[in-house]
Amino acid sequence: MNENILYYGDNLDVLRQHVKDESVDLVYLDPPFKSDKNYNVLFAEQDGSRSAAQIKAFDDTWTWDQGAARAYQEIVEEGPERLSEAMQAFRQLLGDSDMMAYLAMMAPRLVQLRRVLKTTGSIYLHCDWTASAHLRLLMDAVFGPQSFLNNVVWCYGLGGSSKRYWPRKHDDILWYCKNPSHHYFEAAQVPASSQRMKGQMKKAPNYWDIPTINNMANERLGYPTQKPEALLERIIQSSSKEGDTVLDPFCGCGTAVAVAQRLNRRWIGIDITHLAVTVIKHRLQDAFGDELHYNLIGEPVSLPDAQALAKEDPYQFQYWALGLVGARPVERKKGADRGIDGRLYFHDEVQGAKTKQIILQVKSGQNISVAHVRDLRGVVEREQAEMGVLITLQEPSQPMRTEAAGAAFYHSPGWQQRYPRLQILTVAELLAGKRIEYPPSRQVNVTYKKSPKAKRNPAESLHLLF
Ligand SMILES: C[S@@+](CC[C@H](N)C(=O)[O-])C[C@H]1O[C@@H](n2cnc3c(N)ncnc32)[C@H](O)[C@@H]1O
Repeated sequence: MNENILYYGDNLDVLRQHVKDESVDLVYLDPPFKSDKNYNVLFAEQDGSRSAAQIKAFDDTWTWDQGAARAYQEIVEEGPERLSEAMQAFRQLLGDSDMMAYLAMMAPRLVQLRRVLKTTGSIYLHCDWTASAHLRLLMDAVFGPQSFLNNVVWCYGLGGSSKRYWPRKHDDILWYCKNPSHHYFEAAQVPASSQRMKGQMKKAPNYWDIPTINNMANERLGYPTQKPEALLERIIQSSSKEGDTVLDPFCGCGTAVAVAQRLNRRWIGIDITHLAVTVIKHRLQDAFGDELHYNLIGEPVSLPDAQALAKEDPYQFQYWALGLVGARPVERKKGADRGIDGRLYFHDEVQGAKTKQIILQVKSGQNISVAHVRDLRGVVEREQAEMGVLITLQEPSQPMRTEAAGAAFYHSPGWQQRYPRLQILTVAELLAGKRIEYPPSRQVNVTYKKSPKAKRNPAESLHLLF
């Protein structure tokens, strides 16, 4: 494999269909943790504070249902023998519980990850107290207990505390390999903390004191569960070499792929939401610019693809369409933000920092009419926004175009130019490269929080506290 690839899709399908046997040197996975929380993406407001607009990033709730029962059955009937037995034992212990559903989701994915790993490769499974004991046994069943190398403990300070138990201030990272006598490893060196060895370096132990990403951190992108780059640097540097392939099948906002890129590794990232894929695209662009080439697979590239996505999951369609024009989605809360699917910000004044906005509506249905354009016009006026954009899957009628033209122009004071106040863009036009006509910002990309430019010397960005 000599290409970097970002996949939108379910990692089980992607692994089965696209990733070859023994083609990956290092796997890092940070799956949903069975935390029974829904995570919201918090976008930075223009003043740097948190936005009220939060949208659900991914469901982290697992329930025992038909899907889970089917996954369980498949792994018991067709999975490797040791795993099949382990799953049956889990079922006896856990019954038809949420935890059992979680393990039934994880088991076939771990089998695939073992298949794609090279004999010299290793896998780091990031989890926490909620499921680490169960996952350790599941990993033993898939990789064999002899392949267990370490339980790395990532210690951090942030997070809540309780009067009823010791504050939970660490995650577990279960480190396994495919073949314990062949796996690649180069121990990281860290400054010694004892007085006797002051100024010297020592091998890093298996507890890592690395700060979590706080609200003010430069690398913070607003993606919940975003992991610090320093943590991924430690893993990638010690368990892979330059030119090796790193795979993250639950890649979220792309921390592992961004670090792999900076450290000159090849990478494969997979995520099941268009939101994550959009955030990763921005992150890579901001950090590496146009120099970076990678393949993006699974996103619609033709009208039939887009129609299929709209049919399968209208929300994912919406995230994808908004992502194409660089707009950020708006949380769907009853009552609030009525008639708004996304927003785009710009700053076009010569002086001052006035934030202007474009309201976006995305329509994947068949029966769009002039009433939708009127509705958008009303929302733009209500919100005192500068412009409005309707993205449609269906071709708009002439009366719709006429209605949009009737809204006249937005005049940009900074650029002394006019832009149509209401615009209709079809998905076919977007796929052909057409974009919203609006004033370029004097400050680049004010809609998504910018990722810092990648530092070429990795040591510069290591903030390890020992
Ligand atoms: C805990 S987050 C990963 C965070 C990541 N380590 C980072 O630093 O941003 C888990 C991610 O897994 C994705 N996910 C959940 N189920 C998935 C699946 N079946 N296939 C691919 N991605 C999945 C979610 O959308 C979410 O972005």
